[in-house]
Amino acid sequence: MSIDSIRSVCLLGGTGFVGHQIIRRLIDRGIRVRVLSRRPHRHRDLLVNPEVDLIEGSAHDPATLERAFAGQDAVINLVGILNERGRDGSGFRAAHVELTQKALAAAESCGVRRFLQMSALKADMENPPSHYLRTKGEAEQLVFACDAFAVTVFRPSVIFGRDDSLLNRFATLLKISPFMPLARADAKFAPVYVGDVAEHFVDSLEAPETFGEGYELCGPKAYTLEELVRYVGRLIGRRRPVIKLPDWAGKLQASVFEFVPGKPLSRDNFASLTIDSICEGDNRLPCPTRLESIAPEYLGGGLEARKQALRTHTREVDRG
Ligand SMILES: NC(=O)c1ccc[n+]([C@@H]2O[C@H](COP(=O)([O-])OP(=O)(O)OC[C@H]3O[C@@H](n4cnc5c(N)ncnc54)[C@H](OP(=O)(O)O)[C@@H]3O)[C@@H](O)[C@H]2O)c1
Repeated sequence: MSIDSIRSVCLLGGTGFVGHQIIRRLIDRGIRVRVLSRRPHRHRDLLVNPEVDLIEGSAHDPATLERAFAGQDAVINLVGILNERGRDGSGFRAAHVELTQKALAAAESCGVRRFLQMSALKADMENPPSHYLRTKGEAEQLVFACDAFAVTVFRPSVIFGRDDSLLNRFATLLKISPFMPLARADAKFAPVYVGDVAEHFVDSLEAPETFGEGYELCGPKAYTLEELVRYVGRLIGRRRPVIKLPDWAGKLQASVFEFVPGKPLSRDNFASLTIDSICEGDNRLPCPTRLESIAPEYLGGGLEARKQALRTHTREVDRG
């Protein structure tokens, strides 16, 4: 494939947090964008953008996929769920494994030449602890086994940015709760900036050295969950006591929260937290953006609050 041959890209799961960032960068580079969405009316910002062809349909339907991929040079699959409706893993399997399988088949029959797959950090480990990670890993295997086109897989740790779910959720909880009971408080993450993730996706489209590769995407530093909660608390001016739950209590919390609307924590999420989400492989982002240079912009707080939060946070992290 020649280096400048990608002119059109179809995104699955492109209406979400990461998808928006990738779409903006594709448009900036003059690439035509098509997005398949189950509910396009919920994404008016994309609907009114003349450079985006937002089409309605389910990515679970092979005929719809073929319609969406017709005439496209590349496909980016971003579909992913953190929670399923039931609890037996079949929801994760449908969204991650079965959907990827159908997307690969449709991409092949439409003559697509490039396929980028969003996975998750540690999905490629032996015996992942959760349905989420296991099914992401199985989807990766399907992608790597495909020889009809060039593929690349991306495995981020938690992703941060203006509309992220993790830090914004902590901010919401800290605003309404006088204390923060935290399961797996010592679990480690290396938050990676959504802009870096999107940039890496778009850069790799035409980069032959990325063909057939899997990339771990991490920020420059690792933090425990507790450190992240405390940092958010300082940024928004809500320092709350953090109660580190022992595992039995964390599991109990997850079993209860599974039934709370929005599932703030599920047993499967708890299982994912039993391993650290930090990069250990060689294929990584070269110069990742620091959390502290972006999070204050969207989590708020005045300038003094931000400076103070940064000083305290740096001291804590340096102390380890
Ligand atoms: N955000 C993170 O911290 C993080 C970390 C590691 C990995 N990832 C992975 O990165 C990808 C993108 O994450 P994100 O934060 O941008 O997710 P997001 O905001 O939830 O967006 C995902 C999109 O996928 C589509 N989707 C969701 N469930 C689906 C289903 N069952 N069937 C078909 N389509 C479905 C939705 O589009 P429509 O409703 O328009 O159809 C949604 O807009 C996911 O694969 C996720 O697992 C994210």
